[in-house]
Amino acid sequence: MCGIVGVVDRNNLASPIIHEALKRLEYRGYDSAGIATIYQNKICLKKEKGKISEIHEKLDFNKLLGTIGIGHTRWATHGLPSKTNAHPQVDCTNKIAVVHNGIIENFLELREDLAKRHNFVSETDTEVIPHLIEEIMAKTKCDLHTATRRALQKVKGTYALVIICTKESDTLVCARNESPLVIGVGKNANYCASDIPALLPMTRKIILLSDGEMATIHHDKIRIETINGEVEVQPKIVNVSWTPEMAQKGGYPHFMLKEIHEQPHALNGTLMIRPEVINKTANVLNDSEKLYITAAGTSHHAGLAGRYMLSKLSAMQSQAIISSEFSESTANLIDEDTTILAISQSGETADTLNAIKFAKDNGAKIVSITNVMGSTISRLSDLTLYTQAGPEIGVAATKTFIVQLASLALISLQLAEIRGMTDNSEIEQIREELFQTPRIVENTIKKHESLIRDIAYEYAYKPNFLYLGRGISTTTAMEGSLKLKEIAYIHSEAYPAGESKHGAIALIEPGFPVVFIAPHDDTRERIIGNIMEMKAREATIISVADENDYEIKKLSHKMIGIPSTMGILSPITCVTPLQLFAYYAATKRGYDPDKPRNLAKSVTVL
Ligand code: G6P
Repeated sequence: MCGIVGVVDRNNLASPIIHEALKRLEYRGYDSAGIATIYQNKICLKKEKGKISEIHEKLDFNKLLGTIGIGHTRWATHGLPSKTNAHPQVDCTNKIAVVHNGIIENFLELREDLAKRHNFVSETDTEVIPHLIEEIMAKTKCDLHTATRRALQKVKGTYALVIICTKESDTLVCARNESPLVIGVGKNANYCASDIPALLPMTRKIILLSDGEMATIHHDKIRIETINGEVEVQPKIVNVSWTPEMAQKGGYPHFMLKEIHEQPHALNGTLMIRPEVINKTANVLNDSEKLYITAAGTSHHAGLAGRYMLSKLSAMQSQAIISSEFSESTANLIDEDTTILAISQSGETADTLNAIKFAKDNGAKIVSITNVMGSTISRLSDLTLYTQAGPEIGVAATKTFIVQLASLALISLQLAEIRGMTDNSEIEQIREELFQTPRIVENTIKKHESLIRDIAYEYAYKPNFLYLGRGISTTTAMEGSLKLKEIAYIHSEAYPAGESKHGAIALIEPGFPVVFIAPHDDTRERIIGNIMEMKAREATIISVADENDYEIKKLSHKMIGIPSTMGILSPITCVTPLQLFAYYAATKRGYDPDKPRNLAKSVTVL
């Protein structure tokens, strides 16, 4: 949450570069934003409440002069979204400016002491940092990086920070502890930001800063050292394969729609993961006595689907636990014989990282699935499998979900082979079908997008929805329901269809929309029964079902037909219509699906 960026450039104005980078980081938070530069020995600052485009229209960020600067887009934790609480935060003398992502846990204590000598204007935890640095620099006459290091030794909490000071108008100082921060190496310019896509138009040469490290960045040199030990760290430059175009809308009105359309490509990329990597992952899982899958949000739904795949294909027992509940629900259960399969597209979700740390402390082995190279999750893991979706910018996860499913299917099939639990010919058939899923998803979009849009437009103003599925389709229903809630702000619930008669059915009245995920698998007969129950109460039935299933078609008011696949792969083929449905419902209601209110893509607070 919160996006930060720093630029030091020898030849160009920093502010327009920061402004563009902030737009690419806006998925991390968008309740206020600001930029500070140094020009003629002064901090020049523009910040305001609102989205970046609204603020820019009002204040024109690009008019800020200076070749060095920092920027921030905020997701409020301490203090309401407001101009005063927006970052950058400055010291009393207006010589030091700071942007921060994370939470300073001991800020009240620090503030109480500093407030005796310093003038605090905001409610943020961040504001203690510029005042601390100001005080240290004034007392000891040290340089910015030394003052920052000393200040950070007093600070408890999580942070990615970038700091500028008029006394050193060619220097960015940045530091990281449990909030993401990368450094970009340019030509006569260097950068830092919360993620790689923010920097792609400027450079693809990236240094991944580790927790507990800080950097002093000039336009032509970068020095990295540990915050506590002052030990110099040799920077390792990674050349990333993501292109700048991947982080742009490419003609689509929203990133979310672009990313839904990119799913066939993302699936193709992920299905090409080297068989050795899949085999190694499957073997680690096979060697464990206890297997827990942990994740948050959409990734948790992939984890739930993974559990069905593992059990059905390879008779592998596992439990899928929401990461924020992990330590509580597995207290006394984790030991050296346990493996954790952690799933996170960003690799930075605090809840998931916390679950991993808890499991590691208790001796478990960590295997992770993530989409972001060098992300924190990969550094905490014994083994990481990288999905190949390219950068995902839309807040609501789409293409990263589908590739998580594909990688879980690859692992489950490999495990089935290792454990000899499924017939070889069946394994081969499912594998072949898995490799057909990019084509199926592509055809579904081509064939049905306008039908789905029409259905979404028709029902976009219904206040409540129910999503039902059986077996693995329950997880597809959960994901479809989450998408509708997240971006269209329509209340919806997902249930195993069989369970609906124990509660949710009480909600049904004439015209209540119920979305059934009903692919042609061995739950079909039963789900037809559930459709009948809802129909008998005059619900409106919208179904995602096999295109040749005339029985379900007859029972449905609207049906989106998908080609039949082996049941276990159905989340991959059934989820796209649900993503498109949510997208068009959101746009019909006038909402921006890329920036749903109160949400952020990467949730780095617990
Ligand atoms: C946030 C996002 C969701 C995402 C979840 C987990 O809540 O808004 O779209 O599914 O975090 O993110 P992760 O990066 O760990 O998959």
